[in-house]
Amino acid sequence: MNPPDEPHLLEFPRILDERGNLSFLQDDSQIPFAVRRVYWIYDVPGGEFRGGHAFRQTDEVIVALSGSFEVVLHDGQVESTYPLNRSYKGIFVPKLIWRTLQNFSTNSLAIIVASTPYDEKDYILDFDEFRSLGNCD
Ligand code: TYD
Repeated sequence: MNPPDEPHLLEFPRILDERGNLSFLQDDSQIPFAVRRVYWIYDVPGGEFRGGHAFRQTDEVIVALSGSFEVVLHDGQVESTYPLNRSYKGIFVPKLIWRTLQNFSTNSLAIIVASTPYDEKDYILDFDEFRSLGNCD
């Protein structure tokens, strides 16, 4: 099992029903932070990337509510690619991890729950600065 402060996949409860299935997430009983913000990314043109930055303080969980895409994470030393294509799975992305979303399928929908309100000062946009901040030798 991964330490809670490292990127890891999450599986949400699934209430299976002939009428359609239901999943949910409920604060820090299922995810390792209290939710302060939810945002979503949609209508992504083929071949586009989102992200390409890290956060100083924000932890996130990313879910492919519909369709599929890849989450590429870089800890300053190692890059890992996580394909997301199930609405009951997500990935926990802690602060100080460089993250990019790519290979969006048509009509895909990414929902992201975050531990902080939006603050542009929380963004690390320069990879060299990111590498100098920690998590790296
Ligand atoms: P950004 O986080 O850069 O998008 P991505 O990482 O997916 O490429 O955000 C794009 C724009 O949206 C930017 O102008 C800031 C704005 N924004 C908000 O106003 N609130 C939010 O919660 C987020 C995530 C972005």
